[in-house]
Amino acid sequence: MSHAIQDALDLLERALIHHEHRPVGTVATCDPRVAAANYHDCFVRDFVPSALIFLLDGRTDIVRDFLHLVMRLKDQHEQLAGQHLATGVLPASFKITREADGSETVSADFGDRAIGRVAPVDSMMWWILLIRAYTRATGDRTLAELPECQRQIRQILNLCLQGRFEVFPTLLVPDGCFMIDRRMGVNGHPLEIQALFHAMLEAALELLVPDEGNQWLIELTRSRLDVLRDYVRHFYWLDLARLNEIHRYSTEMFGAEIENPLNIYPESIPDWVVDWLPEGAGYLLGNLGPSRLDARFFTQGNLLAAMFGLASPTQSRQILQTFEQRWDDLVGRMPLKICYPALDGKEWRLVTGSDPKNTPWSYHNGGNWPVLLWPFVAACLQHDRRDLAERAFAIAQERLPRDRWPEYYDGRQGRLIGRRANFDQVWSATALILSRMMLDAPDSLIRLGFGSLPR
Ligand code: GLC
Repeated sequence: MSHAIQDALDLLERALIHHEHRPVGTVATCDPRVAAANYHDCFVRDFVPSALIFLLDGRTDIVRDFLHLVMRLKDQHEQLAGQHLATGVLPASFKITREADGSETVSADFGDRAIGRVAPVDSMMWWILLIRAYTRATGDRTLAELPECQRQIRQILNLCLQGRFEVFPTLLVPDGCFMIDRRMGVNGHPLEIQALFHAMLEAALELLVPDEGNQWLIELTRSRLDVLRDYVRHFYWLDLARLNEIHRYSTEMFGAEIENPLNIYPESIPDWVVDWLPEGAGYLLGNLGPSRLDARFFTQGNLLAAMFGLASPTQSRQILQTFEQRWDDLVGRMPLKICYPALDGKEWRLVTGSDPKNTPWSYHNGGNWPVLLWPFVAACLQHDRRDLAERAFAIAQERLPRDRWPEYYDGRQGRLIGRRANFDQVWSATALILSRMMLDAPDSLIRLGFGSLPR
């Protein structure tokens, strides 16, 4: 085992938090200097790579206790004064406080303590994906079939599938409700949420008990999955042929059979994309809505789409081609860029609200995030690009332990450690461990449902 992996494993052990003497999660960072209170919480999304490592290592009890706890915590949001969160929403994070008398309190954050006060949408999706991974890893359906667990799954589906004020099959969400949890122009129909939504619907179909009462929900889930997949594969896809079509789109048209139903104005295509989009490759748009096309490349959404089969097999290979042909921009000196390109000037002021943490080429606005290594490796292995996975892994393995596991990097190519980055960021380390495990056993994550067979 390399020094880097040993160091990462030590960090993972230090990060464990306990409840009633059992490990139930990992803190986001072990950096003692961090002032922001919630970085010492266990975030649901940050725990995902830890959970997958534990499942592959046979420490399945930790994952079971985590999943249980998160489900029980949702009762807390009903007690939040003045809050009207929808039933089914799960917390972004939780923490355990030890009282003077030795008792423990578990408190959840549904966004009510977070920056911007946005409730997470991704937590409930990751939770379902982890329930399926746990069920597959143990071969034991008892947890998934607990009445409270089935109820939670139904509530999540009800919440996401209910009728709304629009006709798109995609899910409409507020800004900053996922990994990018600050204002970044990712409100509406951001790709990452659509990719998780799609993966979550498939997982739910595997977990719901097919009894009579669930039949209608199962039908609804199936039909939404099909239209969602077709819609994203068609309307979110961008390659040179498609860009040419959009460039010459007719606009202001009514009726059913028109080529530009979203009324995208060709004038809205940003200059940079025309030169940047590689030949023979492509990617899924960052966001799409009425007269709104956000051409920024969002790494996590593209990778999750390739990994869980929201993108077609051909599209997935082309997405990986984009990484290869734009390696300096998307991987550079630290895998991987969270979003490309950065917003600057007036656009930065208007879209981020002049956020000093999201300055150009920093943090969410074009920073490089080591945690993105694991979905990259997963997508590469699934689509026959082991070469790219190895290249990215080598960069991360060499640099991360030396830099003490930063949360993110700054600069066009990620050459600088993030200005406000925490050190000992746990998911930077778990991404490396999990990537190593996948490179050593390429189908390990697919067996847990994190990956799918081509269709
Ligand atoms: C920041 C990130 C978020 C992450 C959290 C804990 O808020 O934006 O994605 O979950 O830190 O690491």
